[in-house]
Amino acid sequence: MKLNKIGLFILVAFLMLFVAACSGGDDASSSGGGGSESAPPADVPAVSAGDAAKGEELFNSTCIACHGAGGVGIEGLGKSIPDSEFVRGKSDAELLAFIKVGRSISDPENTTGVDMPPKGGNPALSDSDVMDIIAYFRTLQQ
Ligand code: HEC
Repeated sequence: MKLNKIGLFILVAFLMLFVAACSGGDDASSSGGGGSESAPPADVPAVSAGDAAKGEELFNSTCIACHGAGGVGIEGLGKSIPDSEFVRGKSDAELLAFIKVGRSISDPENTTGVDMPPKGGNPALSDSDVMDIIAYFRTLQQ
């Protein structure tokens, strides 16, 4: 692989920009003041608050089949999200943990006799994707 000087310069400049963009501007996650990259406590998600617009798209591809457009719920399938006291009462971290596990019919807390599958049955969703969906849920509950 050959790089001329200009190409190399551009590459280095790009990398520095990238590093700067990643280390700056994310004050919310570094408020603890520790300033290290070490693992956060178990109850705090390793990702920052999500992107509701992206969350809506992800919801519409994975969750809408049971929870309906706008998350209003579908009788005999998923529950209403805007009306959910469960969603309202949980932190983002708690909801992330819940959505990753779901609530099967064998769970004593299941209320409908219908499975809520882990990640809505889409294992490809990353934690950050689920955080985006949670951000979307917050907009539904306003
Ligand atoms: C196969 C149908 C199905 C899919 C797909 C699905 N859900 Fe669910 N979901 C359910 C059911 C059924 C419940 C209620 C479980 C019970 O009886 O308590 C539920 C409950 C929930 C709850 C708790 C609501 C409450 O008030 O207790 C949340 C939050 C939730 N789902 C999020 C999601 C998200 C996010 C997705 C997409 C990633 C998703 N669901 C996809 C069926 C589904």
